[in-house]
Amino acid sequence: MDSLVRMDGDGPEWLWRSGSLVPWAEASVHVNAVGHASVAAVFEGIKAYVSHDGSSLLVFRLDEHLKRLYDSARIVRLHIPYDLPTLREALLDVLRVNRYREDVYLRPWAFPAGVIQEQMVPAGVTCEVVVDSWTFTSGLGTERECRAAVSSWTRINEASMPPRVKAFSNYHNGRLAMIEARENGHDWPILLNERGKVSEGPGACIAIVRDGEVITPSTTSGILESLTRETSLTLLREMGLTVVERDVDRTELYLAEEVFFMGTGWEILPVTSVDGLQVGDGTAGEVTRLLEAAYASVVRGKSDGHKDWITKVPF
Ligand SMILES: Cc1ncc(COP(=O)(O)O)c(C=O)c1O
Repeated sequence: MDSLVRMDGDGPEWLWRSGSLVPWAEASVHVNAVGHASVAAVFEGIKAYVSHDGSSLLVFRLDEHLKRLYDSARIVRLHIPYDLPTLREALLDVLRVNRYREDVYLRPWAFPAGVIQEQMVPAGVTCEVVVDSWTFTSGLGTERECRAAVSSWTRINEASMPPRVKAFSNYHNGRLAMIEARENGHDWPILLNERGKVSEGPGACIAIVRDGEVITPSTTSGILESLTRETSLTLLREMGLTVVERDVDRTELYLAEEVFFMGTGWEILPVTSVDGLQVGDGTAGEVTRLLEAAYASVVRGKSDGHKDWITKVPF
């Protein structure tokens, strides 16, 4: 388990903090700031892939992710004191100064600055913004699969903790579900919303294929408005597939020909069983594999289409 924990000194050389590049080791906060700062913090997860020709890093859907960061901050009434072009440049700087030559995960996040004295973090508190980064190994094209289980935990909802906000505190819900799934011998949970309909996984949206149609819960079903979901639906439609956004019942997961997760972190992840019931023939289905290949091609800049989704950082 310790291998999953990054300790002081294990990071990249630089991160960006509130206006300037800062050496990793110097980027500390007072211990008293940790509680409130994490309760109220919002963030983004963005990937930069090495281009297929090995010449550059390609940041995927950078502006859309940053827009969602401001949307999250607006909903939870945090004030980010930097405009989008400034943060955009900060992310690109972090890639450049760390001289990355591998796939990189970028995490811009905003948290209330200083030690908050009130029990609740008031609205409008000025934020610090950090851009953190680390390398990752892509699962695209590696024939990864996973076994999923419907969780006994209900997805957080719009009336209490809006899943549309990408807040660290929302991940408490996903964490409980993940631990339960692992304890029961599965890889990942699928959460149902308060109406008992399928919502999403703890770090990715979900879709099924039934009678050849791709079906995914709508953006009002208690999900994060995922950019990988939107990317996938666009690519699937371009392949000529019918894509439907509607409520999905738990039992449809059991009847689906294919089930897959979609998310920046998880990329396109095929699900081969749900609650122990085999999905299709128990391996990744054709639609899932076609989507995964199309996604890999787009993020690595191999595809002719959707160049506007990519921000190039030459080596
Ligand atoms: C709860 C949740 N749903 C969905 C997603 C997928 O969103 P995106 O595709 O924008 O990364 C994520 C994050 O990656 C997530 O944490």
